[in-house]
Amino acid sequence: MRNEQVPDRNIAMELVRTTEAASLAAARWMGRGDKNGADGAAVDAMRMMLDTVDMDGLIVIGEGEKDEAPMLYNGERVGNGRGPQVDVAVDPIDGTRLLSLGRPNALSVVAVAPRGTMFNPRDIFYMDKIAVGPEARGMIDISAPVGWNIDQVARAKGIAVNEVTVVVLDRDRNTEIVDAIRETQARIRFITDGDVAGAIMAAMAGTGVDMLLGIGGSPEGVVSACAIKSLEGDMQGRLWPRNDDDRRLASERGLDLDRVLTLDDLVSSDDVFFAASGITTGDLLKGVEYVPGGATSESLVMRGRTGTIRRIQTEHHWRKLERISGGRYT
Ligand code: FBP
Repeated sequence: MRNEQVPDRNIAMELVRTTEAASLAAARWMGRGDKNGADGAAVDAMRMMLDTVDMDGLIVIGEGEKDEAPMLYNGERVGNGRGPQVDVAVDPIDGTRLLSLGRPNALSVVAVAPRGTMFNPRDIFYMDKIAVGPEARGMIDISAPVGWNIDQVARAKGIAVNEVTVVVLDRDRNTEIVDAIRETQARIRFITDGDVAGAIMAAMAGTGVDMLLGIGGSPEGVVSACAIKSLEGDMQGRLWPRNDDDRRLASERGLDLDRVLTLDDLVSSDDVFFAASGITTGDLLKGVEYVPGGATSESLVMRGRTGTIRRIQTEHHWRKLERISGGRYT
């Protein structure tokens, strides 16, 4: 008798419907200069679809508190309660500003992992991050100098240091990191927002990006870690306090600001599911495009345990969708 197991369910195949719904709802707000309107539409659509997924989900990584935007809040239960107990990380729009200003690279993202396995950064909103692809797995150290890490990536990929491309969020708080990168003569791809897409590009082959460095959102750090697990890349983070209030909060919440958070600290299970759909067309995914009677979208679906990565092109037909959703995201 052959020793084989029947493949189990891949929740990511259901989760992609939640990011598609959020993207379809959000895409209508492109360039309208209304971040909250866009966020509200995306959150509503994502919540509606999350509740159809067979899971007993607890939102560990929600978004919104940072800027009082509409939210799927931390501690909210999602899913139909019938499936496995899981932690859920949502970012209905990563790149709200990009979307509202009509710029590329806004995505809708969700990740799921077994209950209790996702790191909870609580009220510390920022994290210093390093992310790389499979070649440089096990070769990075966020507490080592930037130049050393770039050297490691160059060596792992078999390219010269001045051929390494580092994606960095363009923020004043990243000035020191940018100076250190420039000293090595590595190339920099600046992004104005959206470091989940940046981290995924760093870990995926063929994107023209070799690594991500710099301080971005902590929730986005945990979401990125779920994708990077599936891509077999590597990532580390360290919480970054903005001021003394953050330092005080961290100590009240028992968070160690000096701790290097490894990929396994950010999400300790390999049984992760990840889905992302493009809202505005960018480097990683095509955005929503309208056609007569409907729209098209592009999504990435990944599963940590199998390492399967799917790129899904979807056609959406309003007339039929309206019948079942009451026009909530069409
Ligand atoms: P949201 O659109 O979800 O608010 O996040 C956009 C983003 O650029 C993230 O990708 C990034 O991690 C974070 O904001 C950086 O925060 P800030 O804009 O406050 O510097």
